[in-house]
Amino acid sequence: MYVGVVDRLKLSWHRDLASHPVTHAWVLNLYRAGEQHPETVDDYFPYQHAPWPELAANIKRHAGDERRHTVLYAKAIERMGGAVVELGGWDVFNRVIREHTPRGFAIADDDAPDVKREQLGHFLAHAHCLERRVLRSVEYHAEACAQLGRREEASLVEKVHADEARHVSYSKEAVFELLGRREALAAFELHGRAEAAADRAFSAFQVRVFMDQHARHVPLSRRLVYTACAALMQGMA
Ligand SMILES: [Fe+2]
Ligand SMILES: [Fe+2]
Repeated sequence: MYVGVVDRLKLSWHRDLASHPVTHAWVLNLYRAGEQHPETVDDYFPYQHAPWPELAANIKRHAGDERRHTVLYAKAIERMGGAVVELGGWDVFNRVIREHTPRGFAIADDDAPDVKREQLGHFLAHAHCLERRVLRSVEYHAEACAQLGRREEASLVEKVHADEARHVSYSKEAVFELLGRREALAAFELHGRAEAAADRAFSAFQVRVFMDQHARHVPLSRRLVYTACAALMQGMA
């Protein structure tokens, strides 16, 4: 029952966002900002420290996928007549999750092999939890685009979705191999909690931004529902 209501609300939110070129460009800019985050920091995708070649190749491929997604989203935004905006602060979900994450995962060249292994395990646990969220979000967005007959955007988001699904699965396996079962479960617990808290904080923040800037594009009844949800998420965050 609860899941059904939440699902319908999220789909309705994405349908409202995708219904107007201004709000659609706004949400695609938010997606793009997350895709671009790895390029703006020096502790993402440290494939050179992976202890086996297949993992190094997977991490390198992952980095390349996100760079490609950044370009795809920019093209889609421009195609719908919007402007690509360089976002910062709490418009970048990765920044919010990092603020809620109680440990870092940077690796120095002279770290001992077991330290590198532990840090890489935590980076991939962080990435896994983040990718799971992206996967859920693009699922709603693809469904909303399909329902609205926005075929080009739906096919773009479906392509991104296939990559995100791969990121979710290889990162999970790698964390178990890198850390062992007990440590891996503890890492997923830690980064999962960070993701859940960041998800509520980010969503509440973005609904407020939406209401400030774009509320006129949505009927009053749904504005009230979204505002109530944001207040609830804010309270939980
Ligand atoms: Fe991506
Ligand atoms: Fe991804």
